[in-house]
Amino acid sequence: MTVSDPVVETVVATLSRSATEIRQGLVGRRGAVDEENPSGETQVEADIWADELLAERLSAIDGISQYASEEREAIIDCGGDAASTDGYTVAVDPLDGSSNLTSNNAMGTIVGVYDAPLPARGEDLVAAAYVLYGPITTMLLATEDTVSEYELTGGERRRIREDVTLPDDPVVYGFGGRVPDWTDTFTEYAREIETELKLRYGGAMIGDVNQVVTYGGIFGYPGLESRPEGKLRLQFEGSPIGYIIERAGGRSSNGEQSLLTVEPSEGIHERTPVFVGNEPLIDRLETQLS
Ligand code: AHG
Repeated sequence: MTVSDPVVETVVATLSRSATEIRQGLVGRRGAVDEENPSGETQVEADIWADELLAERLSAIDGISQYASEEREAIIDCGGDAASTDGYTVAVDPLDGSSNLTSNNAMGTIVGVYDAPLPARGEDLVAAAYVLYGPITTMLLATEDTVSEYELTGGERRRIREDVTLPDDPVVYGFGGRVPDWTDTFTEYAREIETELKLRYGGAMIGDVNQVVTYGGIFGYPGLESRPEGKLRLQFEGSPIGYIIERAGGRSSNGEQSLLTVEPSEGIHERTPVFVGNEPLIDRLETQLS
């Protein structure tokens, strides 16, 4: 089952092939390097290696005009037959949750395909996918048509679910940041949710979001007293994951509005509070925070 848009299909096929190599390449690349990413976070060798691998391959695709990554300051102009104002652009978190590499826990790769120059709004997405490096390597892909889940083995992808939607009855929740650093209004909301759902928080957004997709619930990394903009990046995490969850029948929010409607104003590394999950839970959150 290929994607109808040939450029998106090539991106997805490239991601599927690369994911197998990325997973195998994690071995021996767990060490921290004396570098920080543009968000000021310490990088591990695998962050840089996965980014270089994806940059080379995704930039070479005809029809891709820009490549941007959480791990690099500037946007790459891919040139080729698409000027930076034509063609699709890709924004990538090469290794989401890379701090989990030290503890050998789940991590992921996130790719957003935008039909607009970067930085772009989530509404400009035409596709988004995440790869989950769990016991099994899987990929969840959202396009304008549907949301599909694949198992990735040997560089190929095998579809295991189609028309994926969030279960109606929520089961799990996971909220990032330190509790003493939460705002009072978010703390009130979290206290309610804690009495209703089961805690599932693993420190890598993709692992936690996949729990929400599988069981229903809510994942959030709120704005904090010390950092009102939160930790996660709009372009590389918030918008692509928000797109996937909304295509799967859920909702996304920055606490006030859908992440897909947020106008980037501070460049490609802009941070945002992120909430995704079942619509009633997100609606309640926005009411609580308003
Ligand atoms: P990193 O890639 O630096 O490990 O950060 C991962 C992100 C996101 O995947 C996760 O939800 C969040 O950071 C976890 O942050 P905390 O460590 O503050 O919980």
